[in-house]
Amino acid sequence: IGPDVIDIRKLYAQTGKFTYDPGFLSTASCNSTITYIDGDKGELLYRGYPIEQLAVNCDYLETCYLLLYGELPNADQKASFNDRVMHHTMVNEQMQFFLRGFRRDAHPMAVMTGLVGALSAFYHDSTDINNPEHREIAAIRLIAKMPTLVAMAYKYTIGQPYIYPKNDLSYAGNFMRMMFATPCEDYKPNDVLVRAMDRIFTLHADHEQNASTSTVRLCGSSGTNPFAAIAAGVACLWGPAHGGANEACLNMLADIQNQGGVAKIGEFIKQVKDKNSGVKLMGFGHRVYKNYDPRAKLMRETCHEVLGELGLQNDPMFKLAMELEKIALEDEYFVARKLYPNVDFYSGIVQRAIGIPVPLFTAIFALARTVGWIAQLNEMIGDPEYKIGRPRQLFVGATSRDVKPIGQR
Ligand code: ACO
Repeated sequence: IGPDVIDIRKLYAQTGKFTYDPGFLSTASCNSTITYIDGDKGELLYRGYPIEQLAVNCDYLETCYLLLYGELPNADQKASFNDRVMHHTMVNEQMQFFLRGFRRDAHPMAVMTGLVGALSAFYHDSTDINNPEHREIAAIRLIAKMPTLVAMAYKYTIGQPYIYPKNDLSYAGNFMRMMFATPCEDYKPNDVLVRAMDRIFTLHADHEQNASTSTVRLCGSSGTNPFAAIAAGVACLWGPAHGGANEACLNMLADIQNQGGVAKIGEFIKQVKDKNSGVKLMGFGHRVYKNYDPRAKLMRETCHEVLGELGLQNDPMFKLAMELEKIALEDEYFVARKLYPNVDFYSGIVQRAIGIPVPLFTAIFALARTVGWIAQLNEMIGDPEYKIGRPRQLFVGATSRDVKPIGQR
């Protein structure tokens, strides 16, 4: 507790007074050593390492190791962690039948919420959240199986057979193969595209106490099993104000494109500024960043690389996004509110170029964020001050009154 922080628990113990803070604008729910954000500077550190260095020098599984165990792995630790994760990529064959119960046109996030929660019905040796060994194996299983589940959800919607994991590929390469290979034609992962996918995973791996992470902590605080807690995170992430923003952002860009593209940006910005329109510039703004989201810068760089590799340098959607960003960043509405692009502004363009269908964007975010959710869950359970999460309320409803017989109501 520092000079700017009040320990309200002491005040509550002494006076019975508590605080009112809808949306948790000024309430810290925990101590954490995992992720640090300086929103004014636009800085993001995982365990002290700048995201810019991790994105360039480490792959996603090294980042997972860092988030879970607190340090970057050495070469042996990296190899053994990779082996361990890749050994667990298959899911129980029964999961296919569970998946088959969904409509083919179900949203992938609806499917993922169900599939992730259902893992607790299959892996009974990793459901005790208070047992460190159970938590460890649940962590490995979740990181390993998320790509398989996302790819299965995709194949199911397009009516193609599932492609089983190939464990000698990289984590991202294996995921892309499960997405794009068919029994008739194998998929040879392209290095630039695999690196881009791996970077998407790294940039989304953790982001301290956002809505879905807080949901996972709150859900886990009741002592439920790790799979159920992560399924709660998946459900929360789905919303367009959170993980669903990448899908909403690409749909927004497509709409502007269809209405005339760059020439229509002025009209669109006017709509955004009109509070009655209900229109927001998706992929812009953040609760914590009041400066450029460092992940958005890295994503824009990846966008250049991927579009260059695919010969799509003149992609009209990318041009539109860059022009929209330029105009918004010069507009006094956005300047006054310190609204900058967030990670989702460019991630959709990269994913679309790779061939990922738009409704799958948020499921890929969930895949990447799973490690952060688990690291946060582990940290919470290991905290001696951890208690079941139980917010208070200010009751503003009716005071005590008598129930009248039905004929008199
Ligand atoms: N477009 C237009 N105006 C915006 C936007 C936006 N994207 N974001 C915020 N504002 C405005 C608000 O209307 C508000 O204006 P006011 O002061 O005149 O009332 C002001 O900026 C402050 O915004 P809040 O809504 O109070 O900010 P909050 O921290 O509650 O919301 C949020 C943050 C939800 C991310 C918001 O900026 C938003 O909805 N952005 C679009 C969705 C999005 O991109 N989400 C992804 C977030 S990153 C992630 O989850 C990975």
